[in-house]
Amino acid sequence: MQSEESDKIRNHIVGFTEQIDNNAKIDKDVFFNWFNQTGNIDCTFVRGAWDFAIHIANPISPYLKKPEEKTVLDLGYGGGRMLGGACQFFSKVIGVDIHSQNELVQKELNARGLNNFHLLQNDGRSIPVETDSVDMVYSFIVFQHIEKIEIFKNYLNEIFRILRPSGLGCIY
Ligand SMILES: C[S@@+](CC[C@H](N)C(=O)[O-])C[C@H]1O[C@@H](n2cnc3c(N)ncnc32)[C@H](O)[C@@H]1O
Repeated sequence: MQSEESDKIRNHIVGFTEQIDNNAKIDKDVFFNWFNQTGNIDCTFVRGAWDFAIHIANPISPYLKKPEEKTVLDLGYGGGRMLGGACQFFSKVIGVDIHSQNELVQKELNARGLNNFHLLQNDGRSIPVETDSVDMVYSFIVFQHIEKIEIFKNYLNEIFRILRPSGLGCIY
């Protein structure tokens, strides 16, 4: 039973990483377009900033003062389209995802003039940052892909662990 559980978790992670890594092998347009289907990388980043402003920044804004001094974490940053939006409001943005295309995303964000971020690959269930080190965690259209309630619960515990006192979480 234990190994069936682990297999299911591993399959979930392998399925996503293979799909995303294969897209990157075709070319960068296919990779970035997969996350927003706009057909155009510039458009993907514009809509990402728009989605970030409406669905994350707007609801949390009454509760988070001085965003320009805060560190936030994007769980499941994908191609970085939302993270690109977050970089414009916050001091530092950490992106965590299971895929291995950190460098491709970093290069694209740098080319767009963004440098206040750090991208990390994780194991699909824990968040590799220190306890009490982040002011806000957000995640956009990621949790509906998580097939195991154990992973879901683990991520909630991880979010509580890494948030500073009075930190905020926003899961969409
Ligand atoms: C639909 S995409 C959304 C990407 C990004 N948040 C956006 O809005 O463009 C889902 C993302 O979740 C990531 N993901 C799936 N399962 C995950 C897990 N268990 N832990 C972390 N990321 C995961 C995938 O690799 C993918 O990048």
